Amino acid sequence: MKIAIIGSGNMGAGLAGVLAAVGNEVVIGTRDPAKAAALAEKIGHGAVGGGIGAAAKLADVLILALPYGGVAEALKLAGDLAGKVLVDISNPISADFKELTLGHTTSAAEEIQKLAPTAHVVKAFNTIFAQLLPKEARQSNRLQVFIAGDDTGANATVATLAQSAGFEPVKAGPLSNARFLEPIGEMNIHFGYFLGQGPTVAPIWVKA
Ligand SMILES: NC(=O)c1ccc[n+]([C@@H]2O[C@H](COP(=O)([O-])OP(=O)(O)OC[C@H]3O[C@@H](n4cnc5c(N)ncnc54)[C@H](OP(=O)(O)O)[C@@H]3O)[C@@H](O)[C@H]2O)c1
Repeated sequence: MKIAIIGSGNMGAGLAGVLAAVGNEVVIGTRDPAKAAALAEKIGHGAVGGGIGAAAKLADVLILALPYGGVAEALKLAGDLAGKVLVDISNPISADFKELTLGHTTSAAEEIQKLAPTAHVVKAFNTIFAQLLPKEARQSNRLQVFIAGDDTGANATVATLAQSAGFEPVKAGPLSNARFLEPIGEMNIHFGYFLGQGPTVAPIWVKA
């Protein structure tokens, strides 16, 4: 799969690393192309890096690995995204990480879909801490990635991608269910950072 990772921070580096290691064609795109190129070289496995527009052009799937507040600016640089799968991993949170900044009647994912109406936006990975992205960092072999989106094909693509990285994909319904997934991501942040469990916890949904 040709995947563009937009952003080279904690999540961008982690996703690029694990997805390149399992054979995906990974291109990293950042505002500073040199930063993306340096990260790609560090990751290896054929990963390449450059500007956001160039990365977006090369890929069928784009993962927005940047804060929700930066998405609008990044999408302007990404150019035409018609028919592409656009993965939103964000938790739209306050600067102190303690609150969601939108919800109930919308979600970051739905707002991103409005910004990129011709792309297929899929919510995924927002409940997985960056620390758990490298396969060797996981003690559990059944960490779940909740996948919500309105296009069946795009959801299946993201499920395949999550599975290739060693996660269990879980169908979480339409994109509007991101309204419920984003609070779960925020609760996970509270468990990890404010309730003392550390950033290696993750929610899983089980049949009791
Ligand atoms: N960290 C986690 O464990 C975790 C878990 C689940 C979900 N998430 C979500 O994942 C996303 C990324 O988080 P992170 O922890 O990886 O953040 P991070 O380490 O702070 O990295 C953010 C990246 O976004 C880029 N960026 C910021 N503003 C931008 C803009 N306006 N245009 C283009 N690029 C921009 C930064 O580029 P520069 O280096 O050029 O500034 C950097 O590469 C967030 O939405 C977060 O809610 C994070």
